[in-house]
Amino acid sequence: MVSNSEEFDVRASDYQLRSNWSSSPEVAAAAVQLLTDRDLGSLLDAGGGTGFLADYVVGRLGAARTVVLDESLGMLSHVPPGLVRVAKAIEALDASDGMFDTILLRQVLHYVEDPADVLRVLSGRLAASGVMYVGQIVAPDPVAADWLQSVARAMSPNRRRVWTPVSLLSLISRSGLSLTRGSIVPHVDALSSWVSRSAQQVDPREWERLLGTLTPELCSAMDIQHRGAGLQYRLYWMHCLVTVAPARK
Ligand SMILES: C[S@@+](CC[C@H](N)C(=O)[O-])C[C@H]1O[C@@H](n2cnc3c(N)ncnc32)[C@H](O)[C@@H]1O
Repeated sequence: MVSNSEEFDVRASDYQLRSNWSSSPEVAAAAVQLLTDRDLGSLLDAGGGTGFLADYVVGRLGAARTVVLDESLGMLSHVPPGLVRVAKAIEALDASDGMFDTILLRQVLHYVEDPADVLRVLSGRLAASGVMYVGQIVAPDPVAADWLQSVARAMSPNRRRVWTPVSLLSLISRSGLSLTRGSIVPHVDALSSWVSRSAQQVDPREWERLLGTLTPELCSAMDIQHRGAGLQYRLYWMHCLVTVAPARK
């Protein structure tokens, strides 16, 4: 099995081209909206990949210093000039990395081994009045999350989980964080587009099996539509602005 960083090193060259959200101004604008009345100070984009989100946010709101941290050198090689690149796993962050007033964490938590630990490590790097933006694509309900998880794991064992709004909020609160503001926005995706972003080919018989497990309830929860030979479905973006809960400060 290839590691997370090896998978993203392979995907890096056309990552932004293939993704229908990573370089979307509309999706990035949701983070700007949540952060808009703040002084971003020193900003860390954790698992920031090619740095599109950090660049977009800082381009609109400004920041004293911007660090894009990622364990994939391939992804970091696409970070725009002017942003500091740090090649490191989030789990390895410590006091020597300093403190940040703003942390961005978008579409990373499903790749890490222990998401609560990652949130705790990042909380430890957050200045006293700092905030963290957590953005994740979530499923409408637990049954849809289970189905999407099976599809995701077939495409990459590194994609470890799919949340629902409730389970993501539960993770946030279990990790000692409080939700300050947030939004949920519908996100329409297509299976063919998801497959094209995958690092690994899925055995056609496995596809057949997975598609055979689609129930009418799932089709309705995810608003699954047949488009030509493919499937289109509706998920949600959860955009959360969180702070360290008072008991943890
Ligand atoms: C789906 S991409 C998201 C990139 C970026 N945050 C964005 O919104 O476009 C996930 C990124 O997280 C990075 N990543 C995953 N686990 C990580 C970890 N434990 N430490 C650092 N980076 C990690 C991957 O290398 C990859 O660049």
